[in-house]
Amino acid sequence: MRFDVITTMPNVYDSFKDTGIVGRAFRSEIAQINIWDLRNYATDTFKHIDDVPFGGGSGMIIKPDPIFKAFDEIETVSVEKPHRIFFTPQGKPLKQATVQRLMNYKHIVLLAGRYKGIDERVREHLIDEEISIGDYVLSGGDLPAMVLMDAIIRRLPGAVSDDESTDTDTFPVGLLDAPHYTRPAEYRGFSVPPILVSGHHKKIEEWKLNKRLSRTKEKRPDLYEEYLIQLEENKNG
Ligand code: ADE
Repeated sequence: MRFDVITTMPNVYDSFKDTGIVGRAFRSEIAQINIWDLRNYATDTFKHIDDVPFGGGSGMIIKPDPIFKAFDEIETVSVEKPHRIFFTPQGKPLKQATVQRLMNYKHIVLLAGRYKGIDERVREHLIDEEISIGDYVLSGGDLPAMVLMDAIIRRLPGAVSDDESTDTDTFPVGLLDAPHYTRPAEYRGFSVPPILVSGHHKKIEEWKLNKRLSRTKEKRPDLYEEYLIQLEENKNG
């Protein structure tokens, strides 16, 4: 899977690209990443990529030309038409189902904006899909781009080893994870639930499932409702 990121802040991806599960996936070529600096597509000597909005108003708007040119260049190196995503609080909220769907693309181009916004013609004529990572306003689309890539990459086959398994991830199942403990079994007078050190594998699995159910019901009643509906639907075939 290939990601091309168009950004005004290429350096913010430095440690993201090299670290942890994501870094390993790029090194082993399970995924590829290319960062495109929007400023390289500016045509004036001062490398301006933004301008004042027509009709007035505060803030600067990223001009269409550098963005269109960056997309043109990326598409010359692409075998098939990439899926083009722009990050904005106006986009569809990012869910695990979005992540699963986007995993089907071989090539995704992510446009991370800054300033007040981007020229609307980019959204109308270049972008296939707008994504929001939540109902709050960030200063740009770079964090959302990293959030999306991380969520996709960790689900790609081979990205995560057995002991980092994604099997108990919350969202593919729809339940929050059970609590985890490690050694020592007793710490500052606080002990691990005895069942976990009992060696009864079947009982431990039951305990974990019950914890997942009760935690989800308590902390995320919306997810719990959804889970019950799914369960019912699966029962009815
Ligand atoms: N850009 C600024 N805020 C954002 C958000 N919440 N989601 C996606 N892109 C954004």
